[in-house]
Amino acid sequence: MVSKEMIADIKNSINIVEVIGEVVALTKAGRNFLGLCPFHGEKTPSFNVVEDKQFYHCFGCGKSGDVFKFLEDYRGITFMDAVLVLAERIGIPIEIEQTHASTPKNPHQDLYDIHTEAAKFYHAVLMTTTMGEEAKAYLHQRGLTDDVIQHFQIGLAPKGNSYLYQSVAEKFREDTLMDSGLFNIADNNAVFDAFQNRIMFPLQDDTGRVIAFSGRIWQDKDSDAKGAKYKNSRSTPIFNKSYELYHLDKAKAVMKKQHEVYLMEGFMDVIAAYRAGIENAVASMGTALTREHVQHLGRFTKKVVLTYDGDKAGQAATAKALAELEDMTVEIVKIPNQMDPDEFIQKNSLEDLQDLLTKTRISKIEFLMQHLRPENIENLQAQISFVDQMASLIAKVNSITAQNSYIYKLADLLPDFDYQQIEQAVNQTRLLNRQQQQETTQQSPVLTLPVSKQTSRLIKAESHLLQRMVDYPMILNDYRLREDFQFATPEFESIYQLLKQNGEITPQDLSLQEEAVQQAWYRVLEENLPREVGERELEEVETIREKELLRKESQMISKTIREASHSGDQDQALAELERLIAQKRRME
Ligand code: CTP
Ligand code: MN
Repeated sequence: MVSKEMIADIKNSINIVEVIGEVVALTKAGRNFLGLCPFHGEKTPSFNVVEDKQFYHCFGCGKSGDVFKFLEDYRGITFMDAVLVLAERIGIPIEIEQTHASTPKNPHQDLYDIHTEAAKFYHAVLMTTTMGEEAKAYLHQRGLTDDVIQHFQIGLAPKGNSYLYQSVAEKFREDTLMDSGLFNIADNNAVFDAFQNRIMFPLQDDTGRVIAFSGRIWQDKDSDAKGAKYKNSRSTPIFNKSYELYHLDKAKAVMKKQHEVYLMEGFMDVIAAYRAGIENAVASMGTALTREHVQHLGRFTKKVVLTYDGDKAGQAATAKALAELEDMTVEIVKIPNQMDPDEFIQKNSLEDLQDLLTKTRISKIEFLMQHLRPENIENLQAQISFVDQMASLIAKVNSITAQNSYIYKLADLLPDFDYQQIEQAVNQTRLLNRQQQQETTQQSPVLTLPVSKQTSRLIKAESHLLQRMVDYPMILNDYRLREDFQFATPEFESIYQLLKQNGEITPQDLSLQEEAVQQAWYRVLEENLPREVGERELEEVETIREKELLRKESQMISKTIREASHSGDQDQALAELERLIAQKRRME
């Protein structure tokens, strides 16, 4: 089994905000992150992720837990599988002895297998058949050597109805064949290959498994009716095109080393970069950049060099991507003359592309200054709104030196504005931004209110005590010696027993507890106590606790008295009344 230390290591190397952020859109709210709860339907966010303490809590449905618990519930897997998933994510090799037997086979293994088979099949058709000769000549003519074809595992889907189907049908189950997206069914129920007579680019997930394809038309006579230039696999259980990026599996090692990634529009552009010696380039699969893409990239690097096509569409896409890339460092490469990187090497050389990519980057602000610059720059109104747009961007730049040089540049562009005027505009927006920021931070603490309101005084006091025991072994020890001490809240009592036994609560121990105990544990963690224990703090908390316990008990007695007198049992009612009076005395 995986050791306690290993599990703690895994938990420490992972940020729960990132893991949850991949599947729940989170926005920063004060010190926490807030989103729509994935465990119950809701329209206003009450799902809170606490980064400091690495757990989540939903004010709506009350679910809470750590990163392992999240995966357990979200994906419906066991605690151990959640540990393995996260270990794999951060690249900790886990000694798998017994775990091997206990880890269930990936439920989609057949889909991965059929894609691997298909990639091999397409590649073999390209490399070894007469059909493939011509297609290979097309690729060679576009500058791809056999080595490059090999690196990208490029293939050819043969012209014909069902070559792939015939080659794999016997080896896979019916549902696998149908779910793979590699086949379609005709009106007469015949199965045919989804990709026919196309150059095939396999898409791999970041661990290198083939999960989808994109096929390109390559013979003019075929660019007919349904002939989009590129055709992608449809979405399947293993292919989410809003998350996957072409070539990420091979690029990721270089991304980590060089701390940056080139983001391009097309497969052929990524291939062009590779030919020019730049291996850390990726492309999205024919969609605009999504939040999920950005988070996926963020696991490997925090800097993106946007290298979209130099045409109008590419520049518009760059501006859009910049909005998604708010939290990353971004630089932009502009390819001259409306070209894409692939066209650029056809017109120039591999070295030229290398120089262009590495030496001609501009900043986000410089890009937007060019992109947003109005055509009728002589027009005063156009200049004013341009200055407004740029001022709010420049105000967000951290370095004052950089701000200065942007202001100079902008002033240079504009016939009716000088440095001072633009500087004034920048200062004004900075002030405005600061005011807005203060307003939002003042709002966010409200989010943590509901929990404390719901919590009774007894639970609060016990949770307080328990947290002190968790944080201070000395305090735990004091209570351990008081053999008659026990928590009135059963969930806290369970945790207390565990604590007494092991001195700590590990994620693994916790995962074996009932749901209610797990929830209680997070309630304890959520307590925001000052670091120092006050001199009389514990005494005071215990007093509150005892008062509450007595109050609860007298409530119970009053209830039995009422019930007894209702049912005419005067003796019991009297006896209980005596007890109640004794109680009240103790309470004073
Ligand atoms: N794309 C797509 N479907 C299309 C056209 C394009 O999915 N009908 C995607 C592909 O991922 C393609 C990218 O958008 O790689 C860029 O498209 P485009 O610029 O038109 O193609 P190029 O990269 O220039 O491809 P090529 O050089 O092969 O013409
Ligand atoms: Mn191109």
